[in-house]
Amino acid sequence: MASTLDGKRIILGVTGGIAAYKACDLCSQLRKAGAEVRVAMTTAATSFVAPLTFETLTQAPVYTSVLHRETAWEMEHISWAKWGDVFVIAPASANTLAKFASGLADDPLSTLYLSFEGRTVVAPAMNTVMLDHAATQANLALLRERGVHVIESGEGMLACGDHGAGKLASVDRIMDYLATTPSLWETDRPVRGSSASVPPTPKGTSTAPATPILPQDDSLAGKTVLITSGPTHEFFDPVRFLSNPSSGKMGAALTMEALRRSAKTHLVSGPVHLNQLPKGAEVHRVTTAEQMLSAVKALAGSVDIFIFCAAVSDFRVADPPTHKMKRTGNSISLTLIENPDIAHSIGCQKKPGQITIGFAAETDNMEQHALGKMERKRLDAIVANDVTNPRIGFESDSNEVTIYLRDGRKIFVPHAAKAEIARKIFEAVADL
Ligand SMILES: Cc1cc2nc3c(=O)[nH]c(=O)nc-3n(C[C@H](O)[C@H](O)[C@H](O)COP(=O)(O)O)c2cc1C
Repeated sequence: MASTLDGKRIILGVTGGIAAYKACDLCSQLRKAGAEVRVAMTTAATSFVAPLTFETLTQAPVYTSVLHRETAWEMEHISWAKWGDVFVIAPASANTLAKFASGLADDPLSTLYLSFEGRTVVAPAMNTVMLDHAATQANLALLRERGVHVIESGEGMLACGDHGAGKLASVDRIMDYLATTPSLWETDRPVRGSSASVPPTPKGTSTAPATPILPQDDSLAGKTVLITSGPTHEFFDPVRFLSNPSSGKMGAALTMEALRRSAKTHLVSGPVHLNQLPKGAEVHRVTTAEQMLSAVKALAGSVDIFIFCAAVSDFRVADPPTHKMKRTGNSISLTLIENPDIAHSIGCQKKPGQITIGFAAETDNMEQHALGKMERKRLDAIVANDVTNPRIGFESDSNEVTIYLRDGRKIFVPHAAKAEIARKIFEAVADL
């Protein structure tokens, strides 16, 4: 079967971290999938893996220095940038992410990043505390806003001996992302032609227009906002659960916007990667729908605005066994019972002045279903989107929504980054 990466030109950037050795496997897998690969390394990366390894794997020179060059006439940061279809940095160190975010250009990777007009993909890998640091989180958020694709790191045992988030996404996951994200490869650049004829491609054009960075304001100073986010896990034995692909990105964007508006912000989050939980908010981690409801109820008295963005499982398994279910050769049946409806429960008990906003992910009759939910759950607004649209799926960085408000207003927000959608939601409810 022909690989979707066949013939693609990939610049693989490698930075200085223990996971640099995994870039060798990634390089090899890309080559096996038919991609042409060139490797650029930071000086730190060359302390972890020798350029010779990549030269052998790619049968091409490795770019390790902006100023010290084998070929005096070639400016690799320009010629490689014109050559490549996609620039993938794996592993991406905290240092290199910071350079990308601030526009420095003092090594092959940061110089290429600024010169490159195609899509950039970063796969961060670092110690949990480094990843979780406000500076790294802010850099990642900024890069996302500028259209950089981020392949989230996973949780696990790190090279430093700690256990937590920051582990480089698996090579399979990175390969899968590259092969199954068509927007990475959409380009109007004739990259196969002469480099001199390469026309400019707008920066930050991953899937939605970039969002301008707005200054901090105090429009919600003194107010408390509670946002539910992410999926829930409903276990049907001690090691298996029912869930959905919610990434928590919309909840994270709403949290950032609430914080930007100076609100005291609670984020009640189902299981998502740690690096998607914004700094500055009070984060309450839960697993199941029942736990999410308890956490929300415990905080409800002090909240002014509730935003129910979590993709809560509507069902859970009745009486899950306490032991792991074993194969018996026979099929099994699970009895599902309804989970509590968090938005409905809070909507029915809300005090005067409290505002509740829900989300509706619909596959058909969006307006009718959304308005029905707003009524039933006594919401003040509902944000509806069509989840059958492949551009704006669960794990996407962008969305396209219609906001229905209790006062009859209907606001369509065309395809935009989730940060922009979050802004529009807060703008819309400001008048309520
Ligand atoms: C053994 C060792 C492992 C390291 N692992 C990482 C890592 O996984 N991620 C990271 O961001 N930095 C890591 N560092 C720190 C980076 O190497 C350091 O910040 C360096 O300046 C990164 O440079 P670069 O971004 O130019 O590659 C490690 C350092 C050492 C000594």
